[in-house]
Amino acid sequence: MNELDRRRTLAIISHPDAGKTTLTEKLLLYGGAVQLAGSVTARKNQRATTSDWMELERQRGISVSSTVLQFDYAGCVVNLLDTPGHRDFSEDTYRVLMAVDSVIMVIDAAKGIESQTLKLFEICRMRGIPIFTFVNKLDRPAKDPLELLDEIENTLQLRVHAMNWPLGDGPEFRGVYDRAGRLAHFFERTVGGAYRAPESLHSITDPAVASRMNPLAHAAVVEALEMLDAAGEPYDADAVRTGDMTPVYFGSAIHNFGVQLLLDDFVAHAPPPSPRRTVGGDLLPPEHPAFSGFIFKIQSNMDPNHRDQIAFLRVCTGVFRRDMKVLHTRTGKTVRMSNSRKFFARDRETVDEAWPGDVIGIVGHPEFRIGDTLAEEAGIEYEPMPQFAPECFAWLEHTTPAQYKRFREGLDQLLQEGAVQAFSQPGSARRVPLLGAVGPLQFEVLQYRIQTEYGAESRLVPAPWRVIRWIDPAGAPVAPDDLPSSSALALDALNRPVVLFTADWELSYYLEKHPKSLLRRLPSDLAQSPV
Ligand code: G4P
Repeated sequence: MNELDRRRTLAIISHPDAGKTTLTEKLLLYGGAVQLAGSVTARKNQRATTSDWMELERQRGISVSSTVLQFDYAGCVVNLLDTPGHRDFSEDTYRVLMAVDSVIMVIDAAKGIESQTLKLFEICRMRGIPIFTFVNKLDRPAKDPLELLDEIENTLQLRVHAMNWPLGDGPEFRGVYDRAGRLAHFFERTVGGAYRAPESLHSITDPAVASRMNPLAHAAVVEALEMLDAAGEPYDADAVRTGDMTPVYFGSAIHNFGVQLLLDDFVAHAPPPSPRRTVGGDLLPPEHPAFSGFIFKIQSNMDPNHRDQIAFLRVCTGVFRRDMKVLHTRTGKTVRMSNSRKFFARDRETVDEAWPGDVIGIVGHPEFRIGDTLAEEAGIEYEPMPQFAPECFAWLEHTTPAQYKRFREGLDQLLQEGAVQAFSQPGSARRVPLLGAVGPLQFEVLQYRIQTEYGAESRLVPAPWRVIRWIDPAGAPVAPDDLPSSSALALDALNRPVVLFTADWELSYYLEKHPKSLLRRLPSDLAQSPV
């Protein structure tokens, strides 16, 4: 395979607690990238998994930041983009989804499709991203696997094909039957799931299969497999590639059951880098010879010893070579790419070459913003990143005047990461901007990071607003006197006017009284360019 065809760039999505972090570790274990999977029990105490590098993540036991992990497997280069599981960080996750070519969706076998899975799935669907489904935690009492398939099919309106089938569930879970290979894979549990699970293979008619299973569970498996062979949807590679069909795998990430089958199949069936949409709506194929890519994430202070900012770029076309000169499309400036890195969690390594599908971290360019295109030739600009309206607002006030400079530096730098937006309130006596975020945890992270990374104490002052609308200049202006007293006017970072309400009903009430005002959910919905 050539360098392009052997790239697989994916993210894992799930509802919190379904097992995304555990599966990530196990893919790394089977991918040969780590020797020993950090046991989840150990993680609970210190949360020092390979992909958790922020102190806060460890303290709070949540995965906050997206990390990029690259490993070679079966002749392929797998780029695994980690995504935060907490709903307050969904914006970050959506951006990561712009940079992948496929996803693995993890579902808890006892719970089925949960709210966050559904939300993330919808984004994948909208973008036509191929989805591989891993039904996890079969070692616990699970829903009937046929019922789970129905649930995926009906809730997600997605065709399903079971690639393997669980041999029992709960304490009776013995392994999985691989339908394409027509072999039952029996696994043994290892202590803490830290090593590859020893495996033995049998044909389904082998008496050893029946003897190792509870007779009722065995009969149910045989019946289900006959039913699937006769009436199930056949595997349709084209439908998988367009995201209309999902291959479904069963297993237990914690015990390593079914992980290798998933990984083997994933590299065999997941698509190589796909064409990316540019501003004009055209798709640029990865074979395009000139290098280009876009920035989907900015992270400050990854290394506590260096106060630097890293812009993560997904390579879309051509070949990236260190020291090359590229055009920063938004500013029209030429920049030299001398400081580019590849990451394995916290460790970094200089990258000399990168191919479509790869992700590189570029250090030392504070002018880069999320969504920016870098390209070897003029005329390439990738479509903008999706935006989200903040739903929580607060002020972060410095508490120690002597630390103001550090506080402001931290605030300004961290705001560039894009997770928190700043708004100005003309006429306000406050020295700090109003902050808006999708979830309140974002503010806590910001405050914590200003304290730990910049050494400045601050106080979080919550603001009462929950609903933001951008005022479209094409409609009637919004007069301050017409607004309910609890609402407010402000300006976004590009000086576009916004109105803030404390609740949806306030917005509806205002619109009822002032039908000529055009209020937009997002700045991208504005009919006219910024005023
Ligand atoms: P997330 O990233 O999707 O939020 O999930 P994570 O991997 O952190 O897993 C959430 C919980 O589910 C963890 O338990 C983890 O051990 C457990 N888990 C993951 N995969 C499996 C599985 O295949 N089977 C079973 N039975 N459990 C699984 P926890 O109670 O939060 O932590 P701990 O007590 O295990 O340390």
